[in-house]
Amino acid sequence: MSDRPRLLPLLGATRHGGRDAMTCLYRCGNACDHPVPNTSDNAYFGDVVNAEVSRRGVVRAGAVGALVLGFGGAAAGALAGAAPAMAAPEVPDVPEGFGFGRPSTGVGSGALSFKPIPPNKLDTLVVPNGYDNAVVIKWGDPVLPGAPEFDLHGQTAAAQSKQFGYNNDFVGVLPLDKRGNRALLVVNHEYTNEDLMFPGFPGLDGLSVEQLRTAMAAHGMSVVELERVAGTGQWKPVANGRRPYNRRVTALSTKFDLTGPAAGSAWLKTAADPKGRTVVGTLNNCSGGVTPWGTVLSGEENFNQYFVGADAAPAELKPKFERYGITTTARYPSGSRKWERADERFDLAKHPNEAHRFGWVVEIDPFDPESRPRKHTALGRLKHEGANVIVAKDGHVVAYMGDDERFDYLYKFVSDKKFMPGNSWVARKHNLTLLESGTLYVAKLEQTSAGEIDGSGKLPTDGAFNGRGRWIKLVSGNRSYVDGMTAADVLTFTRLAGDKVGATKMDRPEDVEPSKLTGKVYVALTNNTDRGKADKAPADEANPRNLNKHGQILELVEDRGDNTAETFAWSLPIVCGDPTDPSTFFSGYDKTKVSPISCPDNVAFDATGNLWISTDGNALGSNDGLFAVAVEGPERGHLKQFLTVPLGAETCGPFITGDNRSVFVAVQHPGEITGASVENPASNWPDGDYAKPGVVVTWRLDGGPVGS
Ligand code: FEO
Ligand code: CA
Ligand code: CA
Repeated sequence: MSDRPRLLPLLGATRHGGRDAMTCLYRCGNACDHPVPNTSDNAYFGDVVNAEVSRRGVVRAGAVGALVLGFGGAAAGALAGAAPAMAAPEVPDVPEGFGFGRPSTGVGSGALSFKPIPPNKLDTLVVPNGYDNAVVIKWGDPVLPGAPEFDLHGQTAAAQSKQFGYNNDFVGVLPLDKRGNRALLVVNHEYTNEDLMFPGFPGLDGLSVEQLRTAMAAHGMSVVELERVAGTGQWKPVANGRRPYNRRVTALSTKFDLTGPAAGSAWLKTAADPKGRTVVGTLNNCSGGVTPWGTVLSGEENFNQYFVGADAAPAELKPKFERYGITTTARYPSGSRKWERADERFDLAKHPNEAHRFGWVVEIDPFDPESRPRKHTALGRLKHEGANVIVAKDGHVVAYMGDDERFDYLYKFVSDKKFMPGNSWVARKHNLTLLESGTLYVAKLEQTSAGEIDGSGKLPTDGAFNGRGRWIKLVSGNRSYVDGMTAADVLTFTRLAGDKVGATKMDRPEDVEPSKLTGKVYVALTNNTDRGKADKAPADEANPRNLNKHGQILELVEDRGDNTAETFAWSLPIVCGDPTDPSTFFSGYDKTKVSPISCPDNVAFDATGNLWISTDGNALGSNDGLFAVAVEGPERGHLKQFLTVPLGAETCGPFITGDNRSVFVAVQHPGEITGASVENPASNWPDGDYAKPGVVVTWRLDGGPVGS
């Protein structure tokens, strides 16, 4: 197209991994400029235990049954109380839970027949031969009925509050009917990039207050009713009618209830909320998960960058701020968003406790649009990537979580109460309380081959990066297990509690997700280019490479196949990178048949239990992408690249529907390359003009299941 804006040349201004400097600024507030927040000297792998990874606990057929849920009916019950005028959704077929079909063909058997795509730097979304893709919804599209059409030059907070937000990350798709033809799309909007949103960008200091408020409204979450394009795996937003579930949650105005033991504590009280129980807004919502009871969890991640003025905060709070990456030596740390110009609560000199009201796991009930979302303090406060829940054998629910920072920790939460199956109003009401009380643990990993770990990534002679591990109890209900800290202290300053008990410092634990078919847990460890540097933790068996640019996948197998267990075995099925690099590992699979992968970030499972991995910041020079790999059987380790996203973008989501016919990804920050702007974009995706984040669905042209 002749009238296309000129594509910028790539400036190559990368920071850590392959991430562009502009992404560092907007996404994590230039985290790499700041010291690593974890300066604790807790030991790594103090005990070397000679134990091999257990391969037990493969198929827990009962676990699938335990997840049976058709939450359409439950939603109807909930809605009956909240919004009586609303039509009740139909009850989807059980037992697919949050999918569109029943897991059928076994456990990660490796039926991934698509031909992998090659690494590339194309400014388009690339999928395998025989597949198609389409944008489902993008930044600025209407969400609420009556939302105005997007006006690039006339953006307002009021309009944005009704439109799809910026920089979509987590994607969940929850069925609305029996036939799998209607669904709710639930999406996080992690952060904004004002350089790429506002024409004539004047610098953050030059933005008007209305523009700052527009950015706040572009944060948060969206709920959008979708309908299937008949007979295909493609989905589109329902364009007309009442669309009663469509909803925007924003950083600007949505109220959240705090739940759990830290709610109402002194740490969470502010001038605007003297009871410490109600927070306005959610920030930097990264990944998340769909619960077995049909709600969505969302992790508040790099909240630190939204606050200024910690230099003038009370002295006793400063070490706590520093541990969460909030700089206390400058009024405006590198990467500050300057939101205090629009709302003074972001100035910690005036409202020092406001920062403690972010960094939580948020739960939203998309089937009850009138419901107030909640922040669950029982799950601890960290830079939450997300949370994924499984129902344990005994009915307790277990949420697995990562704290995405170099040298931070892996956590799990076990509920006090048990999951109540079924669709009744009683069951739904009960299950909505499951994350309000329970026990929070942090992981300590031990190794089998400590003496052989030299930071090079060389595989130990026992043939595996592996070991055993323990979940260390931090808090249970109102009882703290950490010396000198109350339960509210532990939950509000969970990183400090993890330091005290000697948790294992990991290479940026991002998405952590249990397989619903096996109960095994998979952790994306994105990278850690500080590993092994002077005064930093050295390589260990779970984080086996110094200056780790490419990351690894960790598999965690709970003892007795019991997700509530306090001990586990672990191994690294994949150590990422170019397969010709001797420091990579793909479970022993023939490396000549494996796709190169770098910086794993989000993970998901398809209906057959294969693991899908999206990347953030590919340090091998290709665009980011989505990969799939079998985790059981002879195909374990046969990683194949399924798609790439356009220039400058990161692949988020992903979500594979339970009928295996649709793969959703979020294309986050397309064109986010230093020097780019609306007028001079680095990417023309998806419309041929300026870059816009959007959610994409991919499907097989012949209507068959994806990846098989
Ligand atoms: Fe928002 Fe940890 O990525
Ligand atoms: Ca070993
Ligand atoms: Ca992420």
